[in-house]
Amino acid sequence: HIAANNARESLYVISQYAAAFFANELWTGEQGRAIGLSYFKERGFREDIIRKFELGYSPDQWDALLLSAKAAGHQEEYLSKTGLTVHNDNGRIYDRFRGRVMFPIHNFTGRVIGFGGRTLKTDKNVPKYVNSPESDIYHKSNVLYGLFQAKKAIRDADNCYLVEGYADVLSVHQAGVENVVASSGTSLTVEQIRLIGRFTQNVTILYDGDAAGIKASLRGLDMILEEGLNVKVVNFPDGHDPDSYMHRVGAGAFKNYIENNRKDFILYKADILLKEAGKDPIKRAGIIRDIVESIAKIPDDIKVSVFIRECSHLLQVEERMLLTELNKMRSAKF
Ligand code: GTP
Ligand code: MN
Ligand code: MN
Ligand code: MN
Ligand code: MN
Repeated sequence: HIAANNARESLYVISQYAAAFFANELWTGEQGRAIGLSYFKERGFREDIIRKFELGYSPDQWDALLLSAKAAGHQEEYLSKTGLTVHNDNGRIYDRFRGRVMFPIHNFTGRVIGFGGRTLKTDKNVPKYVNSPESDIYHKSNVLYGLFQAKKAIRDADNCYLVEGYADVLSVHQAGVENVVASSGTSLTVEQIRLIGRFTQNVTILYDGDAAGIKASLRGLDMILEEGLNVKVVNFPDGHDPDSYMHRVGAGAFKNYIENNRKDFILYKADILLKEAGKDPIKRAGIIRDIVESIAKIPDDIKVSVFIRECSHLLQVEERMLLTELNKMRSAKF
């Protein structure tokens, strides 16, 4: 048997084994090449990106990984503890990921700790993505997909692009913008924001251009402000996410787009909310309060005064009134 010197280490070892198994299936397996690799290529992913992110394919059979791992001397216990296998009620053990393209999730030191698997079926009853469950080495609220591949670029650019999905990370990276991560498997958490904060104080949100994406970006920007980081947002045309938009317009145009269309959070919120409110004066008053609520989350008083001034210009409201509102919110909070 292959046994590492402690249980956690054994979970890392089996996860790395599985990543190598899935990658090998993708590049050399008959099914993997015909179905998995052609899927990635049809989506426009380059081979160097497929390799860099160690993408793979899980064969469409009950126990491909289980059999291979056991034959290589790995113990079933660790496959089970990382959620790579599941047990049904009859005590039967089988692979969690079957017939899916595989995205290994690394911690920021580069060790594989979990997986996301995307179905190739269009059947609406099949979940599009299946993710590894929490384990002793995988706590999804503390992990950012792509951080290992992005961390140097995040420091160099002093900015981190935040996207929703695995495919978005790959496509933005392929466009030459390597400072990009996703909060996959969960909505953005405080722990994830603090993790970004170890590399940069600047976050640019690139969420999907749909109602869910806008809602998530409004929630995300308040959380980022509250952690004391700076945040901007780029909107995509309705129906597009960073992945689809990059493949639509090409790498160069995509880069220009995200560089020239970042809005600071006040402008972003004002644009969205003003569109919703139309000419209704009561609703417009609500917008002012909504924006001041975001400003009130910022811990740094100097930044607060800068944003109050900007808000005053943008919405044509006296600074004094905004400050009164701000102080009311702050005293209500403490
Ligand atoms: P593609 O269709 O491959 O481009 O996926 P996407 O990333 O654009 O998917 P979407 O915008 O619908 O969702 C964003 C992210 O949410 C995904 O990357 C997944 O991490 C997660 N997600 C989406 N669908 C599911 C699902 O059915 N189950 C789970 N657990 N997560 C999902
Ligand atoms: Mn956890
Ligand atoms: Mn979406
Ligand atoms: Mn999407
Ligand atoms: Mn997508």
